[in-house]
Order: sequence, then C-alpha cells, then structure tokens
Amino acid sequence: MTDIASLQSQILADINAAGDEAALDAVRVAALGKKGSVSALLATMGKLTPEERKQQGPLVNGLKDTVTDAIAARKAQLADAALEMRLASEKVDVTLPPVPENSGTVHPISQVLEEITAIFADLGFAVAEGPDVEFDDYNFTRLNIPPDHPARQMQDTFYVAPQQGDQGAAHVLRTHTSPVQVRTMLAQKPPIRVISPGRTYRVDSDATHSPMFHQVEALVVDEGIHLGHLKWTVEEFCRAFFEIDTIELRARPSFFPFTEPSLEWDMRCDRSVPGQIKFGTGNDWLELGGSGMVHRRVLENCGIDSGRYSGFAFGFGLDRMAMLKYGIPDIRSFFESDLRWLRHYGFAALDIPTLDGGLSR
Ligand code: DAH
Repeated sequence: MTDIASLQSQILADINAAGDEAALDAVRVAALGKKGSVSALLATMGKLTPEERKQQGPLVNGLKDTVTDAIAARKAQLADAALEMRLASEKVDVTLPPVPENSGTVHPISQVLEEITAIFADLGFAVAEGPDVEFDDYNFTRLNIPPDHPARQMQDTFYVAPQQGDQGAAHVLRTHTSPVQVRTMLAQKPPIRVISPGRTYRVDSDATHSPMFHQVEALVVDEGIHLGHLKWTVEEFCRAFFEIDTIELRARPSFFPFTEPSLEWDMRCDRSVPGQIKFGTGNDWLELGGSGMVHRRVLENCGIDSGRYSGFAFGFGLDRMAMLKYGIPDIRSFFESDLRWLRHYGFAALDIPTLDGGLSR
C-alpha cells in the first residue's frame, strides 16, 4: 500500500516547485492524469475488501481533493505573478513628457514669436490680432494716411480686388501690423497695453525682403505716457530678446504719419568678423524698426480722447530679428519649406520659451 501521506507531501512539494503553468500542468498530469499516481491509487479501490475501502477511500479521495485544490491555488499564484511581471515590464510613466521618435521642429519665426510673446507677457502686455486682409481704412486712413496722401507710396501695397459683401469698403493685404492698433483702440478703452505679432505684405522681394514678412507691433495708451516709457520698453525688450545685458540703443528722428514725434531704433553691433554679429560692442548699427508717440489724430480717429490720453507704439521686423539672433543669412529661406533647412535651424517642439526657463537653448 502506497504511503498516502508521503505521496501527498511529494506532490505538494512538486506543485510548489512548479515555476510556470507548463511545469504545473506536468505535475497535474503526473498526479491526476489517466496514468497519474493519484489516479492509480483510485483505480486500486475496486480491488480492496469493503473494510479496507471504508478505511482507504476517504484518505485517497482526500488526497485527490487536496492535490486538486493545491494545483488551483498554485495556478492562481502563478497567474498573479505573471501579471505582476507584465505590468512591471510594460510600466509607462504617464507623468513623463512624450519623446517623439521622429519629431518635427519649430520654425524659427514661430520660435521668435513665442519668445517675444513671453517677454511682453512678463511686462503685462496682452496679444492682439487682426486679419491679413485688412480694411484700407484701418491700414491707412485712420492711421492718418488719407487717400492720395503721398505716404501711401512709402509702402508697396497689394490691393485686393473688390469682393461681394465689401459694401464698398476697399481692402488691402495689410502692409504693416499697425492696423491692429486701430482695431484695439476701437474695441477697448485705455489703459491699453498690447503687442501684435503677425504677417504683413508688400510688393518686394530680394535677399533681405520677402513679399510676405512678419512684424511685431506694440501699443501702450494711458494717461501720462511719454517717450521715456517707449525708450524703457524698447531697451527692456531688446535686452531680453537678444539675451545680453549690455546692449546700446540709438534713436534717430524719423517720420511716420501715425506718430509724432517719430523715432527709429538702432542697436550697436560688431560686424567686423564676416558672417558674425556681436551686440553691445563694435561700430556698426543695426536697424530695429520704427516707433513714436501715437499721433493725436490717430487717437481721435479711434475714439480716444487725445486731451486725456497719450500713447506710444512701435513696429519691428520680426524676420530680421530672427535672422540676427539665429544667424540666418537669407530671409527667403524662411518661406521655402525646405526640410533640411528646418532641421538645421528649427527648435525642439517641447522647449517652450519662458523668461525663467530660458528663451532659447
Ligand atoms: N508701421 C511701420 C512700418 O511698417 C512701423 C511703425 C513705425 C510702427 C512707427 C509703429 C510706429 O507702431 O509707431 O514701417
């Protein structure tokens, strides 16, 4: 007679030793399969005397039940362990930023636009927007450039053919971002502090001019605004944008119909080494753009009391600033959609420019 107790402890030991489901199944077959050790024991029941059967039967059945339960428990244990292992190996940290395998890059113009927005947001400016196809009235007339005024010839305008629904209003592709000044003043009362970066259009094309280019406009209107505010803002902006503390700016008298007085700003730079530009030293001057105190007539054209309020504005060329900051020689390359160029000059998609995190890296 097989020693049931030792058979049971042997099988239970095998069950515990089974490291995976296949091994466990082998133990099951060896015990409970047709030719298994427990099945063999059960088969001997028929040959026993009734007394023996009475005594052995419950023991063998107990063995069978114990083994069956132990296998089921071990099976559940192995399944849990397998799941744990899978979970551990497939773990994803959802708090990590995604790392795109084949990432695109941010265009230098978009990068510069984000940088400028971050700088001015820090100074408390909001971003204002206007359409590319603009009313002739906003692009010119309300900016103190009436029809037939010679100043219209300063800008080589793309005129837009009259469209249905124009109701007689003439449209142009905006030649500068200054019409957003008009839109802003018509829509809100002072204090006003906005910048407006965007596309602008002129009939012009060579290595430093593109028929579509970008400007950033700034407008501040409040009581007591004077040239000092303009100077401080331009300086602060340039220092932050070019990421150097020692910049030197020069203001030249200029003329724009929408400002009085009008100034143009240059920044000291060194171009003595060909292909390189350094700011803050040297004997060259780099043009940034125009500015001035908003003309009283422009304030009035936009419904703002020029007796109470004054304002300053400036409009700088964004493409030029991007070219200078990132050493890009030809403005036209911005708009050629050449992927090799973009990979070279582009910026990582996830590096959002901020003042404390660094504008550009
Ligand atoms: N709109 C001018 C241009 O495109 C630039 C400019 C000059 C903008 C003076 C201004 C300003 O806001 O005050 O050439």
